[in-house]
Amino acid sequence: MNQLNKWKFTGENGEFELKHPDKSNYLYFPLANEAGMMSAITPRMHGDIKTDQNTFAMRPVSLEDLHNTKSARNFWVSTDQGEVWSATGNSAVQFSQKFTEDNSEEVKLKAGPLWHKITRENSNLNLKSEVLNFVPTNTDIVELMEIKLTNTGSRSTTLTPTAAVPIYGRSADNLRDHRHVTSLLNRIETIDHGVMVKPTLSFDERGHTVNNVSYGVVGATGSGEKPEGFFPIVEDFIGKGGNLEWPETIVDNKDNYLKAGESIDGYEAIGALRFADITLEPGEEVSYIIVIAIDESGGNFAELADKYCNQKSFVYYLDKNKEFWKEKLDTVQVQTGDSEFNNWMKWVTLQPILRRIYGCSFLPSHDYGRGGRGWRDLWQDCLALLLMEPEPVRELLYNNFSGVRIDGSNATIIGSEPGEFKADRNNIRRVWMDHGAWPFLTTKLYIDQSGDLEFLLRDQTYFDAGSNLLDKENNIYQGSIIEHFLVQHLTHFFGVGENNNFLLKNGDWNDGLDMAPEKGESVAFTALYGSNLLELADLFKSLKEKKAIDNIELARELLTLLDTINADVDYDSTEYKNQLLGEYHNRCQDGISGQKIKVSINNLISDLETKGHWIREHLNQNEWLENNAGHNWYNGYYDNDGQRLEGDHSEGTRMTLTGQVFPIMAGIPEDQQIEKIINSVDHYLKDESVGGYRLNTDFNEIKTNLGRLFGFAYGHKENGAMFSHMAVMYSNALYKQGFASAGHEVIDSIYQHCQDFETSRIYPGIPEYINQRGQGMYHYLTGSASWLLLTMVTEVFGVRGELGDLVLDPKLVPSQFDETGRAKIGTIFADKFLNICYINKDKLTAKDYKIKEVKLNDSPIVHEIKDGYAVISREIIEQLDNDSNNQIQVVLN
Ligand code: G1P
Repeated sequence: MNQLNKWKFTGENGEFELKHPDKSNYLYFPLANEAGMMSAITPRMHGDIKTDQNTFAMRPVSLEDLHNTKSARNFWVSTDQGEVWSATGNSAVQFSQKFTEDNSEEVKLKAGPLWHKITRENSNLNLKSEVLNFVPTNTDIVELMEIKLTNTGSRSTTLTPTAAVPIYGRSADNLRDHRHVTSLLNRIETIDHGVMVKPTLSFDERGHTVNNVSYGVVGATGSGEKPEGFFPIVEDFIGKGGNLEWPETIVDNKDNYLKAGESIDGYEAIGALRFADITLEPGEEVSYIIVIAIDESGGNFAELADKYCNQKSFVYYLDKNKEFWKEKLDTVQVQTGDSEFNNWMKWVTLQPILRRIYGCSFLPSHDYGRGGRGWRDLWQDCLALLLMEPEPVRELLYNNFSGVRIDGSNATIIGSEPGEFKADRNNIRRVWMDHGAWPFLTTKLYIDQSGDLEFLLRDQTYFDAGSNLLDKENNIYQGSIIEHFLVQHLTHFFGVGENNNFLLKNGDWNDGLDMAPEKGESVAFTALYGSNLLELADLFKSLKEKKAIDNIELARELLTLLDTINADVDYDSTEYKNQLLGEYHNRCQDGISGQKIKVSINNLISDLETKGHWIREHLNQNEWLENNAGHNWYNGYYDNDGQRLEGDHSEGTRMTLTGQVFPIMAGIPEDQQIEKIINSVDHYLKDESVGGYRLNTDFNEIKTNLGRLFGFAYGHKENGAMFSHMAVMYSNALYKQGFASAGHEVIDSIYQHCQDFETSRIYPGIPEYINQRGQGMYHYLTGSASWLLLTMVTEVFGVRGELGDLVLDPKLVPSQFDETGRAKIGTIFADKFLNICYINKDKLTAKDYKIKEVKLNDSPIVHEIKDGYAVISREIIEQLDNDSNNQIQVVLN
């Protein structure tokens, strides 16, 4: 039996290798470009290729499809000895041999951003294949694949090669809905280099429209020779009793192929390309280049074949691909003492870009949704993009505000263009109560990184029933970004349940808490909104000081919710709050007046501070709990009966991580309380077998008065898995409050677990969650990557902005420094790439070191020390050269 290996990094840009990747059924790897080509590929070349929900070149797959061969890219070889071999490992024989002693095949993966190569060596047949796939980083919608065959034996051998890539060529919806009828639309042609399919119509619930998209598979030998002929129809290729794993055409070595220039209509198509027989002498190799393409402009596959179908071009575009991704990922360069970790972070850095491209829908685990992302994902992905691609994000953020509704909720279907929002799916309006809190977090990061306080004053529209909100005169209504924030925060502040916390509505961050829409409350997010209110007040203070702003114009209607300005308030009364919210809604119900009033910024500051402080006190007085075992933590929720969720229970102690994360992040507990929370989390939620910190304890109950998640088996997804997003936010919150070693432990346990391939069974990167068996799930497309990158840069290395100035506030633990006591990060700030090196010769802990000296390009630099961290004025950074050699050296002592 082959021994299972872990992946090993082989370079500095995340390149890695893994032996026997075919022994892990659920592995997949992304191949994509910015033009929208999205592929998934497995060690046996399974996976699909698409540009959106309605345009799949290969059959859409879910995880459970990955271990059958129906949608694999295949490349067949028939030998002069009568043997049949799939160079991609997809023949019935290879499967049957897989578990026998006669498994004569060695398989190895090498991959990097973003290319994927499988080497397969068969010692019985004396053949080796190397199959390399990537998507070029230009505007072409193609996936390229090179198949290199080598004769590893000692006598010459003659091979008959046939590429075989089934072409699905339609919408994912047609997998079940009219799969056969849609094949009748297919117009299939054999062309010089391959097979193309252009369905006549696009046939689906959107109506039957004329289709313009063509799909094709073209190929040539590495030296550019065209195929001899084609088997373009699936049923002909597999034969009467064969299948894609044992196609008659190959097994019987048929040569009844069609020549170029033939048309056949109305069948399932396959890009089966027969190449001329080739004799390989011992040690000799031959290469074939295959292009799988989607073309929306009339099917110019001849041009694509000219461009890509030879080995020289393949190598040229592969090099370009490697350069492109290296440059992207080099925008953040983490160099701790652990080079494996540094390489792993390359994949984490890539993940937010992947989610920008794939949304939350188009990898095999993500077999839901129709593309795009949700509102909270949109905002949180911008956290990382602000660090990596700061320039375009400003406008993206601004555009996103047009999705906010005047009642504080927002559009939930996000279009593909920036700022394009659509009405809710199936017209069911769901309100996730956390949605209003994320835009502030992202905008705060943007303002701190850039110093662009004016951003807050820009006017933006609101969303209403699929278009822009109008005022009573039917003019498009606009309000400042400040006004948008106030709408989002104040409507929640007054929308409380019986226990005076913000109503949970249809869920919060946890999508699975969707069954408590009447009386459910999210204490966790009450905390986050609370700190947002205080931080917003701080931004107003800066606006006043730095921009001499004394008044802010706001919609007249909002004054109702700025209640401290004109009246006495009674925030302990839930009736008082709900009544005021009712008044606000009544005022906005028939459209907004369009009238603006000027509010003094001092009044605004004091209003928000009163509200923020009230929340802090309320949570500490009412939601801080102690159980019978003497553990303390915050209750995070109330269920639909208005009952407190957490604490002792006859079915076992009930605790959530979310309930702790946001109060800590919001700075609500004192340090001693945080220590107690850490103890309780360690006691009830920590579990090394799943990579760290679970989302909740086992409630042993299908709590239908709270959410669907309790229907999931315990330890899976939102029911008690190690859910990376929340765990990383826990780490972030701990770092933020100065608990560096506890924060480090969270990230380290996830990293260590992911590295243990035998258990985690994922390629490098952070998965959405770790399941009960310790397996990494829903790899690549997860908001946790954004948060991890953000935490590494702004907390662990402490490189962040403060209203545009550069802060250096490292919270590195001793093990993160190399043997010379150095830890480095390269990152962009004020449009300059900075190499920052922290020197901690004595390897002191974060609690024990302070910044002793800061040098810029070898000269001491003017900086201010505030609360233990260094602040360097933005002007100094702006004056630096635009090259990548700027060095900041920080001595810690
Ligand atoms: C996913 C969703 C996110 C949601 C979370 C918990 O997390 O994308 O919106 O808040 O599940 O339900 P992610 O993919 O970010 O790991």
